[in-house]
Amino acid sequence: MTGQTRKKDWWPAPLAEPPVNGITLEPMTMDHLDVVVELEIESFPVPWSREAFDYDMEKNHLAHYWIMVRDETIIGYAGIWLVGDIAHLTTICIQETWRGKGLGRWLLLNTMLLGEKLGARRFTLEVREKNESIIKLYESVGYREVGRRTNYYKEIGEDAVVMWTGSPPFEK
Ligand SMILES: CC(C)(COP(=O)(O)OP(=O)(O)OC[C@H]1O[C@@H](n2cnc3c(N)ncnc32)[C@H](O)[C@@H]1OP(=O)(O)O)[C@@H](O)C(=O)NCCC(=O)NCCS
Repeated sequence: MTGQTRKKDWWPAPLAEPPVNGITLEPMTMDHLDVVVELEIESFPVPWSREAFDYDMEKNHLAHYWIMVRDETIIGYAGIWLVGDIAHLTTICIQETWRGKGLGRWLLLNTMLLGEKLGARRFTLEVREKNESIIKLYESVGYREVGRRTNYYKEIGEDAVVMWTGSPPFEK
């Protein structure tokens, strides 16, 4: 990794205003998990368990999560595991009635910017192969497919598309 620098030309500019008024991002804590797990269950065909979130909040020093709040209500969340300068985007979710307003893209970019502030220079994620619209969203902010993990979502028999952005392994 020594000597590799991230390319600035594609990096999203810092995002000033959210696309919806009154949105804030706050660090996720244990107190938020009842709501987060509810959103997780209604949003993902293979949701993370409460125990998985508990572990990341309590014990996983690599984990960094944020909630998106409006009118004191959690309407989204996202998180990374930061390993060295690599951030693994573990989850991103917008509550269903708030989707399609640009909040998902805004949360994704801000999560990356927050990750960058913590030292991330490259980002990776897995996404369900059939989640084509979300793959396009990731591509639009610089992610590219670098491989597949066969039957990664074995409960639903789907492969994961592995995507990266930032400095090598993928350079735009
Ligand atoms: C993925 C998710 C966070 C996107 O949030 P969102 O607020 O709807 O996204 P945005 O409004 O910012 O839309 C971003 C782009 O993605 C596209 N998009 C996102 N979800 C889409 C969907 N389900 N169907 C069609 N297009 C979709 C939008 O058309 C938009 O593209 P555009 O800017 O070119 O018009 C949200 O759909 C979600 O929480 N899904 C369930 C959880 C999930 O699958 N997370 C991703 C795990 S890898």
